[in-house]
Amino acid sequence: MSYLKKVNHSTESWSKIQAGLIAVGVFEDGLLTDIAKEVDAALNGQITAAIKMGDIKGKSGKISRFYMDKKRILVVGLGKKDKFNSEEVRKAGGAIAKVTTSLEIDHPAVECFCKYTKEDACQPLAEGLVMGSYQFLDYKTEKKDNQKQFTLTSAVILSGDKPQIEKGAVIGAGVCFARDLGNHPGNVMTPTRLSGEAAKIAKEGDMTLTVFDREQFTNMGMGSFAGVAQGTDEPPKFILLEYYGGEKDEKPVVLVGKGLTFDSGGISLKGSASMDEMKFDMCGSGVVMGVMKSVAALKPKMNIIAAIPSTENMPGGKAIKPGDILTAYNGKTIEVLNTDAEGRLILADALAYVSKHFDPAYILDFATLTGAVLVALGHIATGIMGTDNALINKIQTSSKNTGEKVWELPMWDEYLDQVKSKIADVKNMGEARQAGTIAGASFLNAFVGEDIPWAHFDIAGTAWGEKEKPYGPKKGATGNVVRLVLDMLGV
Ligand code: BES
Ligand code: MN
Ligand code: ZN
Repeated sequence: MSYLKKVNHSTESWSKIQAGLIAVGVFEDGLLTDIAKEVDAALNGQITAAIKMGDIKGKSGKISRFYMDKKRILVVGLGKKDKFNSEEVRKAGGAIAKVTTSLEIDHPAVECFCKYTKEDACQPLAEGLVMGSYQFLDYKTEKKDNQKQFTLTSAVILSGDKPQIEKGAVIGAGVCFARDLGNHPGNVMTPTRLSGEAAKIAKEGDMTLTVFDREQFTNMGMGSFAGVAQGTDEPPKFILLEYYGGEKDEKPVVLVGKGLTFDSGGISLKGSASMDEMKFDMCGSGVVMGVMKSVAALKPKMNIIAAIPSTENMPGGKAIKPGDILTAYNGKTIEVLNTDAEGRLILADALAYVSKHFDPAYILDFATLTGAVLVALGHIATGIMGTDNALINKIQTSSKNTGEKVWELPMWDEYLDQVKSKIADVKNMGEARQAGTIAGASFLNAFVGEDIPWAHFDIAGTAWGEKEKPYGPKKGATGNVVRLVLDMLGV
Protein backbone atom coordinates (compact mmCIF):
# COMPACT_ATOMS: atom_id res chain seq x y z
CA MET A 1 0.00 0.00 0.00
CA SER A 2 3.00 2.30 0.33
CA TYR A 3 4.38 3.95 -2.71
CA LEU A 4 5.13 7.34 -4.14
CA LYS A 5 1.79 8.88 -5.05
CA LYS A 6 2.96 12.18 -6.47
CA VAL A 7 5.59 12.86 -9.14
CA ASN A 8 5.74 16.55 -9.92
CA HIS A 9 7.39 18.33 -12.80
CA SER A 10 9.48 21.48 -12.52
CA THR A 11 11.39 23.72 -14.88
CA GLU A 12 13.33 25.27 -12.00
CA SER A 13 17.08 24.79 -11.93
CA TRP A 14 18.63 22.19 -9.63
CA SER A 15 20.30 24.96 -7.61
CA LYS A 16 16.99 26.67 -6.77
CA ILE A 17 14.65 23.73 -6.29
CA GLN A 18 13.38 22.87 -2.80
CA ALA A 19 14.10 19.16 -2.47
CA GLY A 20 15.30 16.52 -0.02
CA LEU A 21 18.12 15.68 -2.41
CA ILE A 22 19.15 16.17 -6.00
CA ALA A 23 19.91 13.18 -8.25
CA VAL A 24 22.07 13.59 -11.35
CA GLY A 25 23.62 11.10 -13.77
CA VAL A 26 27.02 9.80 -14.85
CA PHE A 27 27.74 7.33 -17.68
CA GLU A 28 30.21 4.46 -17.58
CA ASP A 29 32.97 6.28 -19.44
CA GLY A 30 32.90 8.97 -16.77
CA LEU A 31 30.83 11.30 -18.90
CA LEU A 32 28.63 13.57 -16.79
CA THR A 33 25.18 14.80 -17.83
CA ASP A 34 24.94 18.55 -18.38
CA ILE A 35 23.32 19.08 -14.98
CA ALA A 36 25.88 16.79 -13.31
CA LYS A 37 28.60 19.03 -14.78
CA GLU A 38 27.04 22.09 -13.13
CA VAL A 39 26.70 20.22 -9.84
CA ASP A 40 30.31 19.06 -10.12
CA ALA A 41 31.46 22.66 -10.61
CA ALA A 42 29.50 23.73 -7.51
CA LEU A 43 31.19 20.85 -5.62
CA ASN A 44 34.59 22.11 -6.76
CA GLY A 45 35.15 19.08 -8.95
CA GLN A 46 34.54 16.42 -6.28
CA ILE A 47 32.53 14.24 -8.70
CA THR A 48 35.21 14.27 -11.40
CA ALA A 49 37.80 13.59 -8.70
CA ALA A 50 35.82 10.54 -7.54
CA ILE A 51 35.60 9.34 -11.14
CA LYS A 52 39.35 9.78 -11.63
CA MET A 53 40.10 7.85 -8.46
CA GLY A 54 37.86 5.02 -9.70
CA ASP A 55 35.30 5.40 -6.90
CA ILE A 56 32.54 6.26 -9.37
CA LYS A 57 32.40 3.96 -12.37
CA GLY A 58 29.00 4.94 -13.73
CA LYS A 59 27.75 1.36 -13.53
CA SER A 60 24.01 1.12 -14.01
CA GLY A 61 22.09 1.76 -10.79
CA LYS A 62 25.17 2.45 -8.60
CA ILE A 63 24.76 5.54 -6.42
CA SER A 64 27.26 7.83 -4.64
CA ARG A 65 26.50 10.66 -2.23
CA PHE A 66 27.94 14.19 -1.97
CA TYR A 67 27.08 17.20 0.15
CA MET A 68 27.20 20.91 -0.47
CA ASP A 69 25.85 23.74 1.62
CA LYS A 70 22.31 22.66 2.60
CA LYS A 71 22.08 20.24 -0.34
CA ARG A 72 22.40 16.50 -0.68
CA ILE A 73 23.54 15.16 -4.05
CA LEU A 74 23.11 11.64 -5.42
CA VAL A 75 25.23 10.70 -8.41
CA VAL A 76 23.52 7.86 -10.26
CA GLY A 77 25.31 5.46 -12.61
CA LEU A 78 23.57 5.23 -15.99
CA GLY A 79 25.65 2.48 -17.62
CA LYS A 80 27.14 2.76 -21.11
CA LYS A 81 26.09 5.90 -22.97
CA ASP A 82 25.57 4.15 -26.31
CA LYS A 83 23.37 1.52 -24.63
CA PHE A 84 21.34 4.02 -22.63
CA ASN A 85 17.62 3.39 -23.25
CA SER A 86 14.23 3.61 -21.56
CA GLU A 87 14.85 0.48 -19.45
CA GLU A 88 18.08 2.01 -18.10
CA VAL A 89 16.13 5.15 -17.24
CA ARG A 90 13.51 3.05 -15.43
CA LYS A 91 16.29 1.29 -13.49
CA ALA A 92 17.87 4.63 -12.55
CA GLY A 93 14.49 5.87 -11.29
CA GLY A 94 14.02 2.69 -9.25
CA ALA A 95 17.52 2.86 -7.77
CA ILE A 96 17.06 6.51 -6.78
CA ALA A 97 13.71 5.76 -5.12
CA LYS A 98 15.17 2.84 -3.15
CA VAL A 99 18.22 4.73 -1.89
CA THR A 100 16.14 7.78 -1.03
CA THR A 101 13.69 5.61 0.90
CA SER A 102 16.48 3.87 2.82
CA LEU A 103 17.98 7.27 3.70
CA GLU A 104 14.51 8.30 4.91
CA ILE A 105 14.61 11.47 2.86
CA ASP A 106 11.45 12.64 1.15
CA HIS A 107 10.88 14.65 -2.02
CA PRO A 108 13.92 13.90 -4.18
CA ALA A 109 14.52 16.04 -7.27
CA VAL A 110 15.68 13.97 -10.22
CA GLU A 111 17.03 15.24 -13.49
CA CYS A 112 15.16 13.95 -16.53
CA PHE A 113 17.51 11.87 -18.64
CA CYS A 114 15.41 12.25 -21.79
CA LYS A 115 18.12 14.23 -23.59
CA TYR A 116 20.31 11.14 -23.68
CA THR A 117 17.92 8.53 -25.11
CA LYS A 118 16.33 8.01 -28.50
CA GLU A 119 13.24 6.56 -26.84
CA ASP A 120 11.01 8.56 -24.55
CA ALA A 121 12.56 8.70 -21.09
CA CYS A 122 10.25 10.94 -19.04
CA GLN A 123 7.56 8.29 -18.67
CA PRO A 124 9.92 5.44 -17.69
CA LEU A 125 11.69 7.69 -15.19
CA ALA A 126 8.41 8.37 -13.39
CA GLU A 127 7.50 4.67 -13.64
CA GLY A 128 10.84 3.70 -12.10
CA LEU A 129 10.52 6.21 -9.26
CA VAL A 130 7.05 5.00 -8.33
CA MET A 131 7.79 1.27 -8.73
CA GLY A 132 11.09 1.57 -6.82
CA SER A 133 9.36 3.29 -3.92
CA TYR A 134 7.00 0.34 -3.38
CA GLN A 135 6.87 -1.24 0.06
CA PHE A 136 4.34 -3.68 1.49
CA LEU A 137 4.04 -2.69 5.14
CA ASP A 138 0.35 -3.29 5.79
CA TYR A 139 0.88 -6.04 8.34
CA LYS A 140 3.88 -4.58 10.22
CA THR A 141 2.78 -3.37 13.64
CA GLU A 142 6.31 -3.00 15.04
CA LYS A 143 7.59 0.42 14.10
CA LYS A 144 11.25 1.29 13.89
CA ASP A 145 12.32 3.62 16.76
CA ASN A 146 8.68 4.28 17.53
CA GLN A 147 8.44 6.04 14.21
CA LYS A 148 6.25 5.26 11.28
CA GLN A 149 7.89 3.13 8.60
CA PHE A 150 9.32 5.62 6.15
CA THR A 151 7.81 5.95 2.70
CA LEU A 152 8.34 8.45 -0.05
CA THR A 153 5.37 10.76 -0.55
CA SER A 154 6.53 12.94 -3.42
CA ALA A 155 9.28 13.49 -5.97
CA VAL A 156 9.98 16.04 -8.66
CA ILE A 157 11.49 15.57 -12.11
CA LEU A 158 13.52 18.47 -13.44
CA SER A 159 12.69 19.40 -17.05
CA GLY A 160 11.17 16.70 -19.25
CA ASP A 161 7.62 16.41 -20.53
CA LYS A 162 4.89 16.95 -17.92
CA PRO A 163 2.12 14.77 -19.47
CA GLN A 164 4.60 11.91 -20.00
CA ILE A 165 5.74 12.18 -16.39
CA GLU A 166 2.16 12.13 -15.13
CA LYS A 167 1.39 9.12 -17.32
CA GLY A 168 4.44 7.29 -16.01
CA ALA A 169 3.38 7.91 -12.41
CA VAL A 170 -0.13 6.57 -13.13
CA ILE A 171 1.31 3.46 -14.80
CA GLY A 172 3.73 2.92 -11.90
CA ALA A 173 0.79 3.17 -9.50
CA GLY A 174 -1.11 0.55 -11.54
CA VAL A 175 1.87 -1.81 -11.15
CA CYS A 176 2.08 -1.14 -7.38
CA PHE A 177 -1.65 -1.75 -7.06
CA ALA A 178 -1.27 -5.14 -8.78
CA ARG A 179 1.58 -5.98 -6.36
CA ASP A 180 -0.59 -5.11 -3.39
CA LEU A 181 -3.43 -7.34 -4.54
CA GLY A 182 -0.97 -10.22 -4.87
CA ASN A 183 0.82 -9.64 -1.58
CA HIS A 184 -2.26 -9.63 0.63
CA PRO A 185 -2.80 -13.08 2.09
CA GLY A 186 -5.56 -15.43 1.03
CA ASN A 187 -7.64 -14.71 4.13
CA VAL A 188 -7.75 -11.01 3.21
CA MET A 189 -7.68 -10.93 -0.60
CA THR A 190 -10.78 -13.08 -0.99
CA PRO A 191 -13.03 -12.99 -4.07
CA THR A 192 -15.30 -10.64 -2.09
CA ARG A 193 -12.41 -8.25 -1.38
CA LEU A 194 -11.28 -8.47 -5.01
CA SER A 195 -14.76 -7.45 -6.16
CA GLY A 196 -14.64 -4.59 -3.63
CA GLU A 197 -11.39 -3.36 -5.18
CA ALA A 198 -13.03 -3.61 -8.61
CA ALA A 199 -15.91 -1.48 -7.30
CA LYS A 200 -13.47 1.27 -6.30
CA ILE A 201 -11.88 1.23 -9.77
CA ALA A 202 -15.32 1.35 -11.38
CA LYS A 203 -16.11 4.48 -9.40
CA GLU A 204 -12.78 6.15 -10.19
CA GLY A 205 -13.01 5.38 -13.91
CA ASP A 206 -16.72 5.67 -14.63
CA MET A 207 -16.96 1.97 -15.41
CA THR A 208 -19.84 -0.46 -15.03
CA LEU A 209 -19.29 -3.20 -12.48
CA THR A 210 -21.26 -6.43 -12.46
CA VAL A 211 -20.58 -9.14 -9.90
CA PHE A 212 -22.26 -12.52 -10.27
CA ASP A 213 -22.35 -14.66 -7.12
CA ARG A 214 -22.23 -18.46 -6.92
CA GLU A 215 -25.94 -18.98 -7.45
CA GLN A 216 -26.08 -16.57 -10.36
CA PHE A 217 -23.12 -17.85 -12.37
CA THR A 218 -24.10 -21.45 -11.67
CA ASN A 219 -27.59 -20.81 -13.03
CA MET A 220 -26.07 -18.99 -16.00
CA GLY A 221 -24.35 -22.23 -16.97
CA MET A 222 -20.78 -21.71 -15.78
CA GLY A 223 -20.49 -25.33 -14.69
CA SER A 224 -16.72 -25.42 -14.96
CA PHE A 225 -16.11 -22.39 -12.69
CA ALA A 226 -18.86 -23.56 -10.33
CA GLY A 227 -17.18 -26.97 -10.18
CA VAL A 228 -13.92 -25.50 -8.89
CA ALA A 229 -15.78 -23.21 -6.48
CA GLN A 230 -17.95 -25.95 -4.96
CA GLY A 231 -15.16 -27.05 -2.62
CA THR A 232 -14.96 -23.80 -0.68
CA ASP A 233 -17.31 -21.93 1.63
CA GLU A 234 -15.61 -18.64 0.75
CA PRO A 235 -18.09 -16.96 -1.62
CA PRO A 236 -16.78 -17.02 -5.22
CA LYS A 237 -17.41 -14.11 -7.62
CA PHE A 238 -17.48 -13.55 -11.36
CA ILE A 239 -16.36 -9.94 -11.74
CA LEU A 240 -17.00 -7.86 -14.87
CA LEU A 241 -15.74 -4.32 -15.40
CA GLU A 242 -16.86 -2.48 -18.52
CA TYR A 243 -15.11 0.69 -19.65
CA TYR A 244 -16.51 2.57 -22.64
CA GLY A 245 -14.21 5.43 -23.62
CA GLY A 246 -14.45 4.83 -27.37
CA GLU A 247 -17.15 4.90 -30.02
CA LYS A 248 -20.29 2.84 -29.32
CA ASP A 249 -19.71 0.50 -32.26
CA GLU A 250 -16.01 0.03 -31.58
CA LYS A 251 -15.12 -3.53 -30.61
CA PRO A 252 -13.71 -3.75 -27.08
CA VAL A 253 -10.41 -5.21 -26.03
CA VAL A 254 -11.16 -7.94 -23.48
CA LEU A 255 -8.85 -8.79 -20.57
CA VAL A 256 -9.43 -11.95 -18.56
CA GLY A 257 -7.54 -12.72 -15.33
CA LYS A 258 -7.30 -15.83 -13.17
CA GLY A 259 -8.47 -14.76 -9.71
CA LEU A 260 -7.70 -17.90 -7.73
CA THR A 261 -7.29 -16.38 -4.26
CA PHE A 262 -5.81 -19.57 -2.82
CA ASP A 263 -4.89 -22.77 -4.64
CA SER A 264 -4.49 -25.77 -2.36
CA GLY A 265 -4.85 -28.08 -5.36
CA GLY A 266 -8.22 -29.36 -4.16
CA ILE A 267 -8.60 -33.15 -3.86
CA SER A 268 -5.42 -33.43 -5.97
CA LEU A 269 -3.82 -31.69 -3.00
CA LYS A 270 -0.49 -29.91 -3.41
CA GLY A 271 2.51 -30.70 -1.20
CA SER A 272 2.93 -28.43 1.81
CA ALA A 273 6.30 -27.00 0.70
CA SER A 274 5.76 -23.38 -0.41
CA MET A 275 2.01 -23.85 -0.50
CA ASP A 276 1.74 -20.36 1.04
CA GLU A 277 2.86 -19.00 -2.34
CA MET A 278 -0.46 -20.08 -3.76
CA LYS A 279 -1.95 -16.87 -2.35
CA PHE A 280 -0.32 -15.41 -5.49
CA ASP A 281 -2.56 -17.53 -7.69
CA MET A 282 -4.76 -14.48 -8.29
CA CYS A 283 -1.94 -12.49 -9.89
CA GLY A 284 -3.56 -12.86 -13.33
CA SER A 285 -6.51 -10.88 -11.97
CA GLY A 286 -3.94 -8.53 -10.42
CA VAL A 287 -2.61 -7.72 -13.91
CA VAL A 288 -6.12 -7.02 -15.18
CA MET A 289 -7.00 -4.87 -12.15
CA GLY A 290 -3.67 -3.01 -12.33
CA VAL A 291 -4.35 -2.17 -15.98
CA MET A 292 -7.92 -1.06 -15.18
CA LYS A 293 -6.65 1.06 -12.29
CA SER A 294 -4.41 2.97 -14.72
CA VAL A 295 -7.17 3.07 -17.35
CA ALA A 296 -9.46 4.67 -14.75
CA ALA A 297 -6.98 7.53 -14.37
CA LEU A 298 -5.85 7.88 -18.01
CA LYS A 299 -9.33 7.51 -19.56
CA PRO A 300 -8.21 6.40 -23.05
CA LYS A 301 -10.60 6.72 -26.00
CA MET A 302 -11.32 3.03 -26.41
CA ASN A 303 -13.54 0.29 -25.02
CA ILE A 304 -12.11 -2.25 -22.57
CA ILE A 305 -13.79 -5.14 -20.77
CA ALA A 306 -12.25 -6.93 -17.80
CA ALA A 307 -13.50 -10.32 -16.64
CA ILE A 308 -12.29 -12.09 -13.51
CA PRO A 309 -13.49 -15.46 -12.27
CA SER A 310 -12.49 -15.58 -8.61
CA THR A 311 -12.59 -18.39 -6.08
CA GLU A 312 -10.48 -20.56 -3.81
CA ASN A 313 -9.57 -24.13 -4.77
CA MET A 314 -10.07 -26.30 -1.69
CA PRO A 315 -10.50 -29.97 -0.84
CA GLY A 316 -13.53 -31.08 1.17
CA GLY A 317 -16.69 -33.12 1.13
CA LYS A 318 -18.25 -30.96 -1.56
CA ALA A 319 -15.16 -30.56 -3.74
CA ILE A 320 -14.91 -31.88 -7.30
CA LYS A 321 -13.06 -35.17 -7.71
CA PRO A 322 -10.67 -36.46 -10.35
CA GLY A 323 -12.81 -38.08 -13.02
CA ASP A 324 -15.75 -35.71 -12.58
CA ILE A 325 -17.20 -34.22 -15.75
CA LEU A 326 -18.28 -30.57 -15.88
CA THR A 327 -20.19 -28.62 -18.53
CA ALA A 328 -18.82 -25.19 -19.42
CA TYR A 329 -20.68 -22.03 -20.44
CA ASN A 330 -20.25 -22.82 -24.15
CA GLY A 331 -21.77 -26.28 -23.67
CA LYS A 332 -18.49 -28.19 -23.97
CA THR A 333 -17.92 -31.03 -21.52
CA ILE A 334 -14.70 -31.29 -19.50
CA GLU A 335 -13.21 -34.35 -17.88
CA VAL A 336 -11.39 -33.21 -14.73
CA LEU A 337 -8.37 -35.46 -14.42
CA ASN A 338 -6.57 -33.31 -11.88
CA THR A 339 -8.37 -30.86 -9.59
CA ASP A 340 -5.13 -28.87 -9.33
CA ALA A 341 -5.48 -27.83 -12.98
CA GLU A 342 -8.26 -25.51 -11.80
CA GLY A 343 -7.11 -22.23 -13.37
CA ARG A 344 -8.02 -23.39 -16.86
CA LEU A 345 -11.42 -24.55 -15.54
CA ILE A 346 -12.42 -21.15 -14.20
CA LEU A 347 -10.93 -19.35 -17.23
CA ALA A 348 -12.86 -21.63 -19.62
CA ASP A 349 -16.18 -20.15 -18.52
CA ALA A 350 -14.84 -16.60 -18.45
CA LEU A 351 -13.44 -16.93 -22.00
CA ALA A 352 -16.68 -18.49 -23.27
CA TYR A 353 -18.71 -15.75 -21.58
CA VAL A 354 -16.78 -12.81 -23.00
CA SER A 355 -16.64 -14.45 -26.45
CA LYS A 356 -20.43 -14.68 -26.50
CA HIS A 357 -21.35 -11.30 -25.04
CA PHE A 358 -18.80 -8.71 -26.15
CA ASP A 359 -17.70 -9.20 -29.79
CA PRO A 360 -14.07 -8.63 -28.74
CA ALA A 361 -11.47 -6.97 -30.97
CA TYR A 362 -9.15 -9.40 -29.22
CA ILE A 363 -8.93 -11.26 -25.93
CA LEU A 364 -5.89 -11.46 -23.66
CA ASP A 365 -5.87 -13.73 -20.65
CA PHE A 366 -3.43 -13.69 -17.75
CA ALA A 367 -2.89 -16.60 -15.41
CA THR A 368 -0.43 -18.24 -13.05
CA LEU A 369 -1.44 -21.37 -14.91
CA THR A 370 1.40 -23.86 -14.85
CA GLY A 371 4.48 -24.74 -12.82
CA ALA A 372 5.85 -25.94 -16.17
CA VAL A 373 6.38 -22.39 -17.44
CA LEU A 374 8.83 -21.86 -14.59
CA VAL A 375 10.73 -24.95 -15.75
CA ALA A 376 10.78 -23.64 -19.33
CA LEU A 377 11.53 -19.93 -18.84
CA GLY A 378 12.42 -19.45 -15.18
CA HIS A 379 11.48 -16.18 -13.52
CA ILE A 380 12.81 -14.30 -16.55
CA ALA A 381 10.06 -14.34 -19.15
CA THR A 382 6.30 -14.75 -19.40
CA GLY A 383 5.15 -17.57 -21.69
CA ILE A 384 2.79 -16.36 -24.40
CA MET A 385 0.67 -18.48 -26.70
CA GLY A 386 -2.05 -17.74 -29.18
CA THR A 387 -3.63 -18.44 -32.51
CA ASP A 388 -3.23 -15.03 -34.14
CA ASN A 389 0.18 -14.01 -35.44
CA ALA A 390 -0.62 -10.31 -35.66
CA LEU A 391 -1.66 -10.29 -32.01
CA ILE A 392 1.50 -12.16 -30.95
CA ASN A 393 3.57 -9.60 -32.89
CA LYS A 394 1.77 -6.78 -31.14
CA ILE A 395 2.61 -8.34 -27.76
CA GLN A 396 6.26 -8.77 -28.77
CA THR A 397 6.48 -5.12 -29.83
CA SER A 398 5.10 -3.96 -26.48
CA SER A 399 7.45 -6.36 -24.73
CA LYS A 400 10.38 -4.58 -26.41
CA ASN A 401 8.93 -1.15 -25.61
CA THR A 402 8.52 -1.94 -21.92
CA GLY A 403 11.40 -4.30 -21.18
CA GLU A 404 8.95 -6.94 -19.89
CA LYS A 405 10.17 -10.17 -21.44
CA VAL A 406 7.84 -12.65 -23.14
CA TRP A 407 8.56 -15.80 -25.12
CA GLU A 408 6.17 -17.49 -27.50
CA LEU A 409 5.49 -21.22 -27.26
CA PRO A 410 3.87 -23.03 -30.23
CA MET A 411 0.21 -24.03 -30.46
CA TRP A 412 0.44 -26.68 -33.16
CA ASP A 413 -2.49 -29.02 -33.82
CA GLU A 414 -0.61 -31.94 -32.26
CA TYR A 415 -0.77 -30.11 -28.93
CA LEU A 416 -4.46 -29.25 -29.34
CA ASP A 417 -5.12 -32.97 -29.80
CA GLN A 418 -3.48 -33.76 -26.47
CA VAL A 419 -6.34 -32.22 -24.46
CA LYS A 420 -9.07 -34.23 -26.19
CA SER A 421 -10.85 -36.56 -23.76
CA LYS A 422 -11.96 -40.14 -24.46
CA ILE A 423 -15.33 -39.65 -22.80
CA ALA A 424 -15.90 -35.87 -22.77
CA ASP A 425 -15.02 -33.10 -25.24
CA VAL A 426 -11.79 -32.08 -23.51
CA LYS A 427 -9.77 -33.03 -20.44
CA ASN A 428 -8.00 -30.59 -18.16
CA MET A 429 -4.53 -32.13 -18.64
CA GLY A 430 -2.32 -32.96 -21.58
CA GLU A 431 0.19 -35.80 -21.71
CA ALA A 432 1.78 -36.39 -18.31
CA ARG A 433 5.01 -34.38 -17.84
CA GLN A 434 4.99 -33.06 -21.41
CA ALA A 435 4.56 -29.49 -22.65
CA GLY A 436 2.42 -28.61 -19.63
CA THR A 437 2.27 -24.91 -20.40
CA ILE A 438 1.12 -25.49 -23.98
CA ALA A 439 -1.43 -28.04 -22.76
CA GLY A 440 -2.93 -25.34 -20.53
CA ALA A 441 -3.21 -22.92 -23.45
CA SER A 442 -4.55 -25.67 -25.75
CA PHE A 443 -7.32 -26.34 -23.25
CA LEU A 444 -8.23 -22.63 -23.04
CA ASN A 445 -8.31 -22.42 -26.82
CA ALA A 446 -11.41 -24.66 -26.84
CA PHE A 447 -13.38 -21.95 -25.02
CA VAL A 448 -12.44 -18.91 -27.08
CA GLY A 449 -15.01 -17.97 -29.72
CA GLU A 450 -14.01 -18.91 -33.25
CA ASP A 451 -12.16 -16.23 -35.22
CA ILE A 452 -11.56 -14.05 -32.16
CA PRO A 453 -7.86 -13.15 -31.92
CA TRP A 454 -6.72 -14.42 -28.55
CA ALA A 455 -3.48 -14.71 -26.60
CA HIS A 456 -2.71 -16.34 -23.28
CA PHE A 457 -0.05 -15.10 -20.85
CA ASP A 458 1.27 -17.74 -18.45
CA ILE A 459 2.74 -15.56 -15.70
CA ALA A 460 3.41 -18.35 -13.16
CA GLY A 461 7.16 -17.62 -13.41
CA THR A 462 7.05 -13.84 -13.53
CA ALA A 463 4.24 -12.82 -11.16
CA TRP A 464 6.48 -13.27 -8.14
CA GLY A 465 9.88 -14.60 -7.12
CA GLU A 466 12.10 -12.82 -9.63
CA LYS A 467 15.61 -11.62 -8.74
CA GLU A 468 15.39 -8.10 -7.39
CA LYS A 469 15.46 -5.45 -10.13
CA PRO A 470 16.25 -1.78 -9.37
CA TYR A 471 12.56 -0.92 -9.76
CA GLY A 472 11.27 -4.30 -8.57
CA PRO A 473 10.27 -5.49 -5.11
CA LYS A 474 12.70 -7.30 -2.78
CA LYS A 475 10.23 -10.13 -2.60
CA GLY A 476 6.59 -10.86 -3.35
CA ALA A 477 4.37 -9.90 -6.26
CA THR A 478 6.01 -8.04 -9.16
CA GLY A 479 3.06 -6.56 -11.06
CA ASN A 480 4.78 -7.73 -14.25
CA VAL A 481 3.05 -7.25 -17.62
CA VAL A 482 0.75 -4.45 -16.40
CA ARG A 483 3.06 -2.04 -18.25
CA LEU A 484 3.21 -4.27 -21.32
CA VAL A 485 -0.59 -4.39 -21.59
CA LEU A 486 -0.95 -0.63 -21.15
CA ASP A 487 1.62 -0.17 -23.92
CA MET A 488 -0.36 -2.55 -26.15
CA LEU A 489 -3.54 -0.62 -25.51
CA GLY A 490 -1.67 2.52 -26.53
CA VAL A 491 -3.06 4.49 -23.58
N1 BES B 1 -1.49 -22.28 -9.73
C1 BES B 1 -0.91 -23.46 -10.24
C2 BES B 1 0.33 -23.20 -11.09
C3 BES B 1 1.57 -22.85 -10.35
C4 BES B 1 2.32 -23.82 -9.70
C5 BES B 1 2.05 -21.57 -10.35
C6 BES B 1 3.49 -23.48 -9.05
C7 BES B 1 3.23 -21.24 -9.72
C8 BES B 1 3.95 -22.19 -9.07
C9 BES B 1 -1.92 -24.20 -11.10
O1 BES B 1 -3.23 -24.10 -10.70
C10 BES B 1 -1.54 -25.64 -11.07
O2 BES B 1 -1.60 -26.21 -10.02
N2 BES B 1 -1.16 -26.20 -12.21
C11 BES B 1 -0.75 -27.55 -12.28
C12 BES B 1 -1.34 -28.15 -13.55
C13 BES B 1 -1.16 -29.62 -13.67
C14 BES B 1 -1.93 -30.34 -12.58
C15 BES B 1 -1.66 -30.06 -15.03
C16 BES B 1 0.79 -27.59 -12.31
O3 BES B 1 1.41 -26.75 -12.93
O4 BES B 1 1.32 -28.47 -11.66
MN1 MN C 1 -3.68 -25.56 -9.22
ZN1 ZN D 1 -3.75 -22.44 -9.66
